[in-house]
Amino acid sequence: MQTILYYFTGTGNSLAVARAIADRLPDTTLIPIPMLILKGDKVRAPENANIGIVYPLYAMGLPNIVVRFFDILDLSDAGYVFSVVTEGGTFGSPTGQIAALAKQSGRNLDAAWWIQMPDNYIPPCPHRPQNPNRKPSAKTHSEKSLSSPKQSVNGSRGTSTSPQPENCSDW
Ligand SMILES: Cc1cc2nc3c(=O)[nH]c(=O)nc-3n(C[C@H](O)[C@H](O)[C@H](O)COP(=O)(O)O)c2cc1C
Repeated sequence: MQTILYYFTGTGNSLAVARAIADRLPDTTLIPIPMLILKGDKVRAPENANIGIVYPLYAMGLPNIVVRFFDILDLSDAGYVFSVVTEGGTFGSPTGQIAALAKQSGRNLDAAWWIQMPDNYIPPCPHRPQNPNRKPSAKTHSEKSLSSPKQSVNGSRGTSTSPQPENCSDW
């Protein structure tokens, strides 16, 4: 029986999972969701096909691009519909959300799995200023160190003129 895996991946975890499923299920095709969104055409699931949606958990829910995919997806003819979410280990289940979206697209979700993968979430810097190009008003700790005679090596000053920020408040 034919299986189609529609997937979205930011950094490759969900793609790795989709490929692992495809290795184990005969006659499986992987289709990236962003490509279909860019095309914008309606996507009709082939009659009686297994349809899998593979995606990462974002803020305890579905990435927006996956939500938008359900606007063009018609699952009415699908045989079996399942989802696989990859996540970084925090609380939160997207199953209710994706079940509702599948129903809206014409078919109940038959199964939902999740798989813990490396967490790729980078929390935003709480002190980052509005304009990231803004020059620091005061010298950073690194600049002070470079220009301090106490820090000089063999009596010479450091040659680097572009110290790196050491923490969020240096942005
Ligand atoms: C913007 C963003 C939000 C995330 N939110 C969550 C979350 O709420 N819970 C969680 O367990 N992991 C969260 N993660 C981690 C990813 O779901 C996880 O690392 C996933 O496997 C990444 O898959 P990908 O490489 O296919 O994009 C988040 C990652 C990003 C980038």
